[in-house]
Amino acid sequence: MLIQNQVDLKNKHTFSTAATAKEFIEVENLHQAEEALRYWKEKPYLILGGGSNLLFLNSRIDRVLKIDLQGWEPVAETAEHIWVDVAAGVPWHDWVLQSLDLGWYGLENLALIPGNVGASPMQNIGAYGVEVQECLDSVHVIDRQTIQRLKIENKDCAFAYRSSAFKTQWKDKYLIGSVRFKLEKKNHRIRTEYGAISEELLRMGVPPKSATPKEVAEAVMSIRRSKLPDPKQIGNAGSFFKNPSVPEQVAKELLKEHPQMPQYPSENQGMVKLAAGWLIEQAGLKGIREGDAGVHSKQALVLVNYGKASGEEIWNLALHVQAEVQNRFGVVLEPEVNAI
Ligand code: FAD
Ligand code: EPU
Repeated sequence: MLIQNQVDLKNKHTFSTAATAKEFIEVENLHQAEEALRYWKEKPYLILGGGSNLLFLNSRIDRVLKIDLQGWEPVAETAEHIWVDVAAGVPWHDWVLQSLDLGWYGLENLALIPGNVGASPMQNIGAYGVEVQECLDSVHVIDRQTIQRLKIENKDCAFAYRSSAFKTQWKDKYLIGSVRFKLEKKNHRIRTEYGAISEELLRMGVPPKSATPKEVAEAVMSIRRSKLPDPKQIGNAGSFFKNPSVPEQVAKELLKEHPQMPQYPSENQGMVKLAAGWLIEQAGLKGIREGDAGVHSKQALVLVNYGKASGEEIWNLALHVQAEVQNRFGVVLEPEVNAI
């Protein structure tokens, strides 16, 4: 097992703030992962995937375990479905494209989400009307304390909007080694309810009802490229906050005062979901900049690092955004990004 010292993390996370790991171990298979878990058993350490949903508050991190497990294999098949195990270190978007090329459908709306497969259950990644829980059979993990391998079924993962048991009651309990997907080979129903997808398909000259899953993925990729900043050009971690839910009565009152406010059904009964990006923009914060930390000028829900911002500066900007939105609308924004 190779333990590297003083490893620069700037290029290993998409906010690209300056950060260094005192000790850094990269693992390429489950045996190496178990060895590393034993070595650090009594100590706190960060498990790192693609680093696209993290903010380092402190530039000195003690221990980082980078997951680089690769490969995928089909494990079962019927005429309609295929079950495939995909290792945690596989880049998410590569896996989406690979599955579509093989005629295995269900992940097309989730194209171009950064990061790796292993983190996909953590916050139940979602986009354009689909969440990963809909195609996920089970998660293969190693318990970080007992070093036991376990398989956790979908129903036990407590999946919810941008959340799962891995992010809540099991926080820091498991290393995710691979994810088993259940994809459709036949009779797949594409999902184009999300308005922007149909519009983009029409712009591509494709009637939304007869679009193929690959065409849906292309439409999603095109929308995402036009809206979201590319972390290779400008540091960011996607939506910094979750879209908040408020009780129906509060939503009604907000709508009376702000008739243009977007509101959506919430997965929780009696609640209504609001668009955090709209709230931030209406609070006058879209495009603001404090040093090199900023609120993106095209998508107010994305905080950005223009170059030399520290994690702390980005966090301070996030606190400012949170306070202004709360002052203006009485709504509290909860971070989606994992602050370390
Ligand atoms: P990391 O950032 O490395 O880690 C995230 C968390 O998971 C950390 O707590 C880490 O410790 C833990 N973790 C990672 N791997 C493992 C593992 N193998 N075992 C145990 N714990 C692990 N998200 C969406 O849901 N929808 C979007 O549309 C979306 N768009 C984005 C757009 C941009 C431009 C960016 C930069 C981000 C976006 N995100 C989106 C957020 C991000 O891409 C996802 O959350 C992604 O799943 C993070 O994967 P990662 O490998 O980079 O995880
Ligand atoms: N809006 C504004 N101003 C802005 C941004 C958005 O008014 O600056 C409004 C839009 O006009 C729209 C509403 O807010 O009426 C929602 O905007 P959008 O459709 O762009 O989606 P979002 O809520 O900002 C969410 C996810 C994204 C996901 C997209 C597509 C969350 C926190 N974010 O963004 O996920 O890709 O929908 O499904 O749920 C992520 O999690 O990192 C992420 C990027």
